[in-house]
Amino acid sequence: MRFATLISGRGSNMQALLEACAEPGHPAKPAIVISNKADAAGLEIARAHGVPTKVISHKDFPSRHDFEAALHQAIVESGAEMICLAGFMRLLEADFVDRWRDRILNIHPSLLPAYRGLHTHQRVLEDGVRFSGCTVHFVRPEMDAGPIVFQACVPVREGDTEDSLGARVLAWEHKLYPLALRLMAEGKLRVEGKVVHIDAPLALQDGLMNPCPERN
Ligand code: GRF
Repeated sequence: MRFATLISGRGSNMQALLEACAEPGHPAKPAIVISNKADAAGLEIARAHGVPTKVISHKDFPSRHDFEAALHQAIVESGAEMICLAGFMRLLEADFVDRWRDRILNIHPSLLPAYRGLHTHQRVLEDGVRFSGCTVHFVRPEMDAGPIVFQACVPVREGDTEDSLGARVLAWEHKLYPLALRLMAEGKLRVEGKVVHIDAPLALQDGLMNPCPERN
């Protein structure tokens, strides 16, 4: 399955996807990386992987609709059958999302539906919650919403900063997203309403507690 990746910046999740796909026999093949920002660091990484890149700046279009029409055209022309959003900082309109329904994945650095939007780690720290994490989900027109494929949960530790918590979450993002892409490319993700069914053997974890009483 060929996929397009949409980025706006650093591109570390995109890099995790491209590296996973470079493994022999991987069922997904990168068709194109598109950035809405010409100076996105991820573009260089994509080129180093030999993946075609394109800059489509939202600022070059009179409306969101025109911008998304250009995105759609570039994605179709690349031969991509699905889209991975990887730090793409533009909201997509219902028109676009509906055209690609159940064929757009996104990664978000929180345990959705908690902490949609920006500055998730800052807000998590302010609220004093004990766990955070990340979510891979199918995209719906509402921001950071849609059927959830995977979540990983990390403890928030005493003394954490946005950077330390962000790094702990990001390490899991880089594991979850390639796994979700692989299952998607293998046709093993089935969306029914709000729920994603995964047609693959997966282990279940036991519950977690944080912080935990010290063991004697
Ligand atoms: C990640 O935290 C991702 O969850 C969010 O935006 C950030 C992008 O980082 N959607 P990168 O560009 O993949 O390094």
